[in-house]
Amino acid sequence: MLLDLHTHILPDCDDGAKSVKISLELLKMMKSQGITNVVATPHFYPDSDTIDGFKARVSSALGKLEKVKPKDFPEILIGCELFYFRNISKSEYIKDFTINNSHYILLEPNPYFIDKIFMDEILYLKNDLGLIPIIPHIERYNKAKGFKTFLNFIKENKILTQVNCASFFDRAYNRTIKTLFEKRLVTFIATDSHSMNRPPMMGLALCEIENRFSPQAKQIILHNLNSLLNDITNKEQTDEIEQFKYL
Ligand SMILES: [Fe+2]
Repeated sequence: MLLDLHTHILPDCDDGAKSVKISLELLKMMKSQGITNVVATPHFYPDSDTIDGFKARVSSALGKLEKVKPKDFPEILIGCELFYFRNISKSEYIKDFTINNSHYILLEPNPYFIDKIFMDEILYLKNDLGLIPIIPHIERYNKAKGFKTFLNFIKENKILTQVNCASFFDRAYNRTIKTLFEKRLVTFIATDSHSMNRPPMMGLALCEIENRFSPQAKQIILHNLNSLLNDITNKEQTDEIEQFKYL
């Protein structure tokens, strides 16, 4: 079993797949890379979306795709890539954004600055609400104000992170990814697939981790993805610190 926890494969739902045909092409590529379960994580932007509008959009897109998806294609679970907003931890709807109604939530930071208020809210989500935030494409914040402090915060509080598969092949992230692996700050990788221009690269990324870092690093990522898949499908919360291995 292999999980892709961050994708934009639902047709015409956000800036991802523009049609059912493209969704199917992406799923076919994922299948060929060994992916068995895919979380669809459409963007939710608090400034332009409403909860009801978002839910309706997701459910309609999923319905269209499920109708034509071959049985042997990866199974689709629903999540969200939730863009951070102030007082997010106090939102009465926060649990509506979790991955497959589990405790995990993919929380996208502001790309320009990461401040103490954001980090305090992460801790509130975790410690007071029992949610488990995952920071998507952590490498992409390498130019954000406060990135170094954020990395220390992640280490100290064992916050879960995800690196995009495509970023292993983008020189702009080479150094950051090296630091993230050396400091043992990478929990997961995911494809963040959008289209044939931003296709799934899970297979290539796993090879790259093995070659650039070590076979153990790859095994740990696979272990973590498997643990997450078990957790989100059984809907049981386990102690994530024990459960996820660090590099
Ligand atoms: Fe994304």
